[in-house]
This record gives sequence, C-alpha cells and structure tokens, in this order.
Amino acid sequence: MSEFTEKLILPDIPNLHQLDVYERHGGYQALRKAMGMKPEEIIEEVKKSNLRGRGGACFPTGMKWSFMPKQSTKPKYLCANGDESEPGTFKDRQIFECNPHLFIEGAIIAAYAMGVTTVYTYIRGEYAKWIAILQKAVDDAYARNYIGKNILGTGFGTEFVIYRGAGAYICGEESALMNSLQGERGYPRVKPPFPAQVGLYGCPTTINNIETIANVPIILNRGAEWYWKIGAPKQPGTLLYGISGHVNKPGVYEFPTGILLTDLIYNYAGGVPGEKKIKAVIPGGSSTMWLRGEEIEGVKMDADSLKAVGTAIGTGGVIVMDEDTDVLKVLARIAHFYHHESCGQCTPCREGCGWMEKILNRFLAGDGTMSDIDLLMDVANNIEGNTICALGDAAAWPVQSVIRKFREEFEARAKKSPTAPKPVTPPHLVTTFDA
Ligand SMILES: Cc1cc2nc3c(=O)[nH]c(=O)nc-3n(C[C@H](O)[C@H](O)[C@H](O)COP(=O)(O)O)c2cc1C
Repeated sequence: MSEFTEKLILPDIPNLHQLDVYERHGGYQALRKAMGMKPEEIIEEVKKSNLRGRGGACFPTGMKWSFMPKQSTKPKYLCANGDESEPGTFKDRQIFECNPHLFIEGAIIAAYAMGVTTVYTYIRGEYAKWIAILQKAVDDAYARNYIGKNILGTGFGTEFVIYRGAGAYICGEESALMNSLQGERGYPRVKPPFPAQVGLYGCPTTINNIETIANVPIILNRGAEWYWKIGAPKQPGTLLYGISGHVNKPGVYEFPTGILLTDLIYNYAGGVPGEKKIKAVIPGGSSTMWLRGEEIEGVKMDADSLKAVGTAIGTGGVIVMDEDTDVLKVLARIAHFYHHESCGQCTPCREGCGWMEKILNRFLAGDGTMSDIDLLMDVANNIEGNTICALGDAAAWPVQSVIRKFREEFEARAKKSPTAPKPVTPPHLVTTFDA
C-alpha cells in the first residue's frame, strides 16, 4: 500500500467545483503568489519540481515552457489539451467535474509565466456535461477577476476560450489540435518548426495536458522541494490512474507515481471479479504495450519502471483483462479504432492500420495462417517510426506486443497453412504488401 495518501488533484471535498468552496480551501492563493514572482522564477520552480507531462509523452513541463520566446512581436498562446480520446483514459474529465478551478488557476499561472495572451482549452465535443461545468467555472473566475484584462489588478491580462472538438482522436495530437482550433482539418504538422516557434495561427504556443496544468498550483503552493519528494523521483507527484476492464471497482484513483500495479488492481480497484486470474494488462491507455498477467508482480507505475519492462506509463489508463479474455478479439477491436481514427495523411498509417485490422479479423474468422503472424508484425514494424505523428506508433505498439507476448494465441488459431491468402487490396494501391 502507498504511504502518501493525500489527494492533491481530486481531494474529497464536496462541491469543490464551486468557486466559493474552492477559495475557502485555499483556491487562487497560488495565483496570488505567482503574481508576486517574476515569470522566469515560476518556470524555474516548475523545472525544479520535475513535473512531467501527463498527456502521454512525459515531457518535462518546465523545460517545455522555457522554449517559449521571451520577447515576441506576436501573441503567445497556451492550448490546454482536454481531447482525451485514448481508449482507457478518462481522468481529465474528473478534473473538469470535481476541481475545474485548480486547472483554471494552473492555466492562468502558466499564462503569466509564459506571457500568454489567450488560453484555449480544447475539449472533445462529447464531453458536453464537463464543458458546461468548466464554462461556469470560467465565467465565475472572470467575474472575480482571476481571468481578464487586468488580473487581480496586476496589469497582466489573459483571456480564456473553451473550444469543442468534433470527436476525432487525432485532434488530441498537439499539432492536429492547433489546426483543428484554426478551423482546418485535424492533420498533424511536420516538425520542426515546433509549436513554441510556430504554433497556433503561426504564433508561439505551448500545449499541455489538463492534468499537467492542474499540478501547477500545487507546486507553487507547497514548493518544488516538497513536490518532487512524492512518488518516483524522475516523474514525481500524484497521478490520476483510470482503471477499467475486469476489476470490481473501476474508476479514477489518485496515488503517487510509482505505486505497484498490483496494489492498484487488488487493493484499490477491488481485484478481479470471480477472483479470476489476470491474463493481460494494458498499463497506460490503448497505445501502450501489453503485459502478461504473470509479469505484473512488482511492476511500478511510473515512466522509468514501465519502460524497464518494455512498456509505458502513457496516460495512466490501466485496462485489466481476466483469464477468459480473447486477447485477439480485444486487439482486433483496438486495431479497428486506430484504423478508423487514422487521419490518412501518412501512407504507412493510413494503409497499415487497415491491413492490421484485416489480418486480425482473418484470425477471428478462423482464416489466419502461420505466415500471417509474421506478416502482421511486418506491417506493424513498417508503421512504427514512419509517420508524421505518433498515432502510427500508437497503433503498432499494441500489435507488436501482443504478437510477442501471446504468440501462442495466434498459433492456436492459425490454419496450419504456410502461406497467407492473397489479400484483397484495391487495385489502385500499389504496395509492398502484395509483393
Ligand atoms: C494520436 C494522439 C492523440 C493524443 N491525444 C491526446 C489527448 O487527448 N490529450 C493529451 O493531453 N495529449 C494527447 N496527445 C499528446 C499530445 O500530442 C501532447 O504531447 C500533450 O498534449 C502534451 O501535454 P503534456 O506535455 O502536458 O503531456 C496525443 C498524441 C497523439 C499522437
């Protein structure tokens, strides 16, 4: 069990989403403190805290902020990423619901630290309930002068805009998000240039996840020294773990980074229904590599520990599968998702995601062959690292890991024929797949 049990982001305080209640519990004190500091001192404090992004890539937040130009003739922007479309991930909406002012306060501090003139919060459109809660919180914060032209009489001003996405996973990718915000198709951009140089509307921009930003007031209130002692040193703080699948008590749990995966599953999420064995676990959202049930003992939930066992912390979305799970069926469902969500801009992802789904469906139909296993791996390997954005990697990693970890499941279902049936590919697609 974890020693540090304080809930920093989702404390058990009734009605904390209301501004009065938030203020009574110390809300907006971090903003007041920040306004008495120099912007570069805030960035230094965030750097010292070792806060790493909670959007999946674990990038150091303070360092990202320091990439923004100090002087700019153009306006600077912060895009808060609340697209949250990764299967298995449902934690940012808890912040919108239970503690929206913590996020707003963090965003305004970030805006002050980077000299940002407008904070855009991009939220997936299906989150209508949470958009309404956030909008009310933003309106209240405007009315009390925490947002606006002259925040708390300091002369610093920033605006706050909520933008609804139209339900595309790709629009959570930071550069696609900016294009979508600009009213364009959600196509990822080639980097460089990076957003801090050429971002939204061609202006310097930082993109951060909602949970990342919600950590900022905590760091300023309690200090970087205090913060980085919580959890895993290289990725400190608490994490909102979303646990779903075959557990008795699915939900979002806040614990320090580095908590044991087995603790999360058995001590907090109530274990597996019917006390069945665990067959597989996806530790960080659908795009992370799978672990076999036998592998999870002793595994800690932080970036470095999960990397050491060949997977990633991602968004902390843990998906548990019991011993009766048909892993190929789950994988085919995930492959369908990525095929559907690929924006189609890069050939390896556009074509490869469809091929992977097609091959997996062959196995489900009983038509897969032994050579299809290697073909599937080959397709995944040719997507990985060959696309503009990481959606291609996100589609390839689960496939690669399931082949590595559950090869026997493929073999058991494969027709014992050495050759794969000729794939049915539209004639205009000239591909190595047909070779
Ligand atoms: C296909 C795809 C979807 C993504 N979706 C999200 C998302 O919904 N929310 C998010 O914060 N980051 C998402 N990301 C990661 C963002 O590109 C970006 O790294 C992140 O918002 C940066 O925030 P952080 O530094 O605070 O982690 C996605 C990335 C990819 C490749």
